[in-house]
Amino acid sequence: TAVSEAEMYRPNFHFTPKKGWMNDPNGMFYANGYYHLYFQHYPEKNVWGPMHWGHAISKDMIVWEEQPIAIFPDKEKYIFSGSAVVDTQNTSGFGKDGKAPIVAIYTLHDMEKGKDGKLDTEQQDIAYSTDGGFTYKKFDEGNPVVKNPGIRDFRDPKVSWDEARKQWIMVVAASDRDHFYNSKDLKNWKFLSDFGKDLGAHESVWECPDFFQIKVEGTNEKKWVLLQSLGQGAANGGSGTQYYVGDFDGTQFTVDPNFEQRIKREKAVWIDYGKDNYAGVTWNNIPTSDGRRLFIGWMVSLDYGGSVPTNGWRSSMTTPREMQLIKKGNEYSLISNPVKELDKYVSKSIEKKSLKVKGKTALFESGKIDLRQAVISFDLKNLKQDNYTFTLSNAIGESLTFGLNNAENYLFVDRTKAGKIDFSDKFASIVHKAKLDKNQKEANFKIVLDKTSIEIFYNNGEKVMTEIFFLNQPFNSISASSNSGIELTNLVINQLNI
Ligand code: FRU
Repeated sequence: TAVSEAEMYRPNFHFTPKKGWMNDPNGMFYANGYYHLYFQHYPEKNVWGPMHWGHAISKDMIVWEEQPIAIFPDKEKYIFSGSAVVDTQNTSGFGKDGKAPIVAIYTLHDMEKGKDGKLDTEQQDIAYSTDGGFTYKKFDEGNPVVKNPGIRDFRDPKVSWDEARKQWIMVVAASDRDHFYNSKDLKNWKFLSDFGKDLGAHESVWECPDFFQIKVEGTNEKKWVLLQSLGQGAANGGSGTQYYVGDFDGTQFTVDPNFEQRIKREKAVWIDYGKDNYAGVTWNNIPTSDGRRLFIGWMVSLDYGGSVPTNGWRSSMTTPREMQLIKKGNEYSLISNPVKELDKYVSKSIEKKSLKVKGKTALFESGKIDLRQAVISFDLKNLKQDNYTFTLSNAIGESLTFGLNNAENYLFVDRTKAGKIDFSDKFASIVHKAKLDKNQKEANFKIVLDKTSIEIFYNNGEKVMTEIFFLNQPFNSISASSNSGIELTNLVINQLNI
């Protein structure tokens, strides 16, 4: 049966709203067996408009059930991005009958003041839920909990619990820097410090920060990581999320000196070098027995978020990812990999210990795997100064190539021939690249494919590239090529059924 045009580009397992517009992920928390995800949402049209918090829940972050809208705007007072916490100790006093309240902390954006050019357009408000996050009551008697300090762009509060100091910490984007606050009860907030105005990317205002403590893999060392999105200036232009690694003394965040050198060398360090991962933040309240730092992003670029060719709805989220901090020598890196829950949905596998690539070589016989939901991984060894290219293609000549240019030391994604591209001149005018700091001897790739996206996790997530595409027919083949020849080892092609 023919798929309606509206549904043709709906991914199989990346979260999308049933109808209307979606942008940033908001307020994610875990409680009682469910991952909650809220999102910037305008249910009436598939363009940005009066902002609500849409809501979805999942047992595994892969299969989502959309819920009724959780927070509604009040006329011109839009509910912008923010976070939510499970107030287990009822510090806020909003809890009833010994049940932990959920407290949402978000930016109230006053469109009328904005039109008048007023500076105090944005303030931080809270709302609370006593039914586990499904419905919320705005804290009318106490809002705003953080007044606007005279900065027009002052938004996207991320709140989390600082266990060592038994306090709540809030980080808010304030134009060209972040402001930090603390609180004992989520209602009264004290300004602590600011961070970042002279370090990293600053091509446009900062948005959607996240701030968390994380263990260095394989050690007991803990560091603090700040994620910082901004609308312009990412690795391949447009929007992206940079990160900083350092320490926090309860008042001030300080970047690790080696990481600061790296930022200065690279101008900014990004969590993702593809075009399409923006405004992502991490889940609150993941049980310590799990201990993962879980992330999801909005899978599009601000360059063309409003014009991607879907009807009735718009935008999807990335595959949820686990973030880990690794240390090589004295350099920290935040790595991302798809959550292991994705593996539960493997319905069919092809495994090859070794595949010799001469000329253009197909990774599997045509028809054996449906690439509309698949995960492909492999290793490359004895690399030369050559170009290692992988090509996804279909019967009508549409293709997407990605790979490693090991002569000029970069990863790339080229979607210039991947179906519909003309809805925006910023979509596919150039090949997108992620620079590598040196020539590679060996490499490892993991590729997550859905109907409209490719997420490339290079060297166990040390470099990530996320890109979307809109084909007229699905890809049905993937091949590898290089001039000097190459052997793929540990090739696993998993088809998913979600
Ligand atoms: C980022 C953003 C946020 C803001 C929200 C409004 O995409 O601009 O800074 O809170 O979207 O929808």
